[in-house]
Amino acid sequence: MYEVFSLQNGRLVDEEAHFKRLFRSLKELSLKVPWNQAVLQVIIGEVLRRNRIEYGNVYLQISRGNARRSHQFPLSLPKPSLVVMANRISYECEKSMSGISVLTVPDIRWGRADIKSISLLPNVLAKQKAVMDDFNEAWFVESNGRITEGASTNAWIVDANGNLITRGLGKHILAGVTRKRVMELAVSNGLNIFERGFTVEEAYSASEAFLTSTTAGVMPVIKIDDHQIADGSPGKVTSKLCALYSKFLDDLRR
Ligand code: PDD
Repeated sequence: MYEVFSLQNGRLVDEEAHFKRLFRSLKELSLKVPWNQAVLQVIIGEVLRRNRIEYGNVYLQISRGNARRSHQFPLSLPKPSLVVMANRISYECEKSMSGISVLTVPDIRWGRADIKSISLLPNVLAKQKAVMDDFNEAWFVESNGRITEGASTNAWIVDANGNLITRGLGKHILAGVTRKRVMELAVSNGLNIFERGFTVEEAYSASEAFLTSTTAGVMPVIKIDDHQIADGSPGKVTSKLCALYSKFLDDLRR
């Protein structure tokens, strides 16, 4: 399994939520590790210190360890492997303000998209198809026509009344840490959120669309398949959320 944290001024953003999800993923995979949160924090801190990174991302991956090839877990449990790496990048809301395009693709993933597993083949193929077709991200669509989430992001639309709509938590999507943070920011700024699946047609005719993730923050979506969203520029609600998320990150810098 893996986790991706973002880093602001040497601090991990929404650290508790990421660790909570990390240990949940491990539990769901019956993957026992000798490291608790405090130990992982020390290891991440050391990687950041040695690489002198204060703004960027941290990628952490844990596997069951080295063992003879077999589908079942090995009888004598190997030592789990841990990989931690960090990249220097900064999230700037302004950078994202021209908006991006999204291609819808069938959701062919297994039924446990809530586990942050490195088995990402359908996500990789979806993203590759999107990029080959000149889109920036792929949004997965279930056979009933409802969007679950993006290849590496959570999907959102805004309706004509300025309400936010995003898929409810469950086994079909990853419980995004940014999704949760943006929800809190939205609610405390008077916006309504409906957690439900929305259809591709609803998305085509939405007032606004955007996506969220640790690496993308709040990113406006201005085109879905061949449909321009509203007037093709980032909407008011999205811009507001982008600014709120940016302020949340800025406050961590102080
Ligand atoms: N992706 N959905 C999927 C399938 C994801 O892979 C991600 C994160 C998200 C957003 O979750 P969060 O807000 O916690 O980052 C939703 C990470 C960034 C990645 O794979 O690089």
